[in-house]
Amino acid sequence: MSKSALNIPLSKSSGHFKKQDWASAYCNVEKELNNEKLKVVKGAIPKELLGTFYRNGPGRLERGGQWVHHPFDGDGMIASIRFKDGNAKLTNRFVRTKAWVEEEKADKFIYRGVFGTQKAGGALANAFDLRLKNIANTHVVKLGNELLALWEASSPYSLNPKTLETFGPSSLNGALKEGEAFSAHPRFDPGHHGSPRMVSFGVRTGPKSTIRLMEFATEGPNAGQLIHDRKDTFSGFAFLHDFAITPNWAVFLQNAIEFNPLPFLLGQRGAAQCLSSKADGQGKFWLIPRDSGSFAGQPPRILNAPDGFVFHHLNACEQNNVITLESIFYKDFPSIGPNEDFREINFDLIPEGRLTRCLLNLDNKTVSSQLLSRQCCEFAMVNPRKQGLSARYCWMATAQKEEGNGPLQAIKKLDLLTNEEFVWSAAPRGFVSEPLMIPKQISTAEDEGWVVVLVWNSERSATDLIIMSSSDLKEEAVVELPIAIPHGLHGSWANEDLLPES
Ligand code: CO
Repeated sequence: MSKSALNIPLSKSSGHFKKQDWASAYCNVEKELNNEKLKVVKGAIPKELLGTFYRNGPGRLERGGQWVHHPFDGDGMIASIRFKDGNAKLTNRFVRTKAWVEEEKADKFIYRGVFGTQKAGGALANAFDLRLKNIANTHVVKLGNELLALWEASSPYSLNPKTLETFGPSSLNGALKEGEAFSAHPRFDPGHHGSPRMVSFGVRTGPKSTIRLMEFATEGPNAGQLIHDRKDTFSGFAFLHDFAITPNWAVFLQNAIEFNPLPFLLGQRGAAQCLSSKADGQGKFWLIPRDSGSFAGQPPRILNAPDGFVFHHLNACEQNNVITLESIFYKDFPSIGPNEDFREINFDLIPEGRLTRCLLNLDNKTVSSQLLSRQCCEFAMVNPRKQGLSARYCWMATAQKEEGNGPLQAIKKLDLLTNEEFVWSAAPRGFVSEPLMIPKQISTAEDEGWVVVLVWNSERSATDLIIMSSSDLKEEAVVELPIAIPHGLHGSWANEDLLPES
């Protein structure tokens, strides 16, 4: 196994970071900028990089002196960085959700957050207030002419892809009912059945769970239109954040989780704080046939899943009735207690995520699993052209140390065939977010292109953009943003030709 640590060599000691450096990223985004030209402080932006990098994440973490209980309760703030002619320009805007507008005016939290943020006044003030605050903070993707800020429990918010101006909640051309749950993890089918699609889902859960699987056209005159739609009901409560696709299947992992709503109803906990691992519970794979695949119209298949908890999948593919699914497995569900300060967490007490491969045999209904890497990781992706197909390479954010939990400080490229790794590290004072692999428009090799990532630079208390070569993670440019963006969530890339004319 070769390893090229380009900045600071990986070490097994625990002195990779200071907790206050990591926690210093948790701040409010104070400025909204418009087409601000960014300063390149090292290297050069490749001229072939032509398009826009969109990133969503919590941007408002404190109001009127009160902090959110968990950063996932922070209001969605979109950063867009447009690359053209070797320059990068930043536009950033909060999503003007109904709750953001009201709370901005009141300068205090007037809604409860799903992750435990309460209104002032204790349990009494919060009991039986079951309104959901759609904070549109989880992902941002382009679909048709809309840029969508996604939050899985309610409608997407539609934005102008260039100015990031908020239009309002979107029904996706009539496909969704008002306030209908719509996942924050769409998958982009690169063309398994001819034209490319966006595949996504919504879940209604309780003692039974119904998954609505939807496929939308992403190109041509029908871009943004719903083209396939099916609903399947399964027994049991479901917590489904992400899924994976192959040409024939939508693959879900239903974690063995239970939901006790009482503390939420009584105003003592946020809804997500009422989730816990089910003792002796059995996780399940729910496989739903895609409408354009070979098993269209057939009922779903259900297989037992290995122990553990999964938020995110890397990719899936299929061959001869065996589905390969690669996911980031945690030993247990990392619950969020009501009396903890998220800035004070002890990484050593929280399970780390590890990349794991499961083989799901549809003929004999058996599942086997294999650990692919011991290193703590999150936010993994393959070349988008390999979505749903066998992929050799993946890119992910990892902890600096090789084992055990820690904050995400490095980017890793892993060759799934040979286990060869390349590493770029921001340690000890930098903290990475989700890396995005952007293939070259015309490329022959699967790993040819760039990786872009926003990094919290605690030395200057602001955010940097790093551009590296996706084949060996060689740093090509360091670009300084004039703002501080807290540790964020998901993002996407739109090629320049997908954007409206300026
Ligand atoms: Co996610």
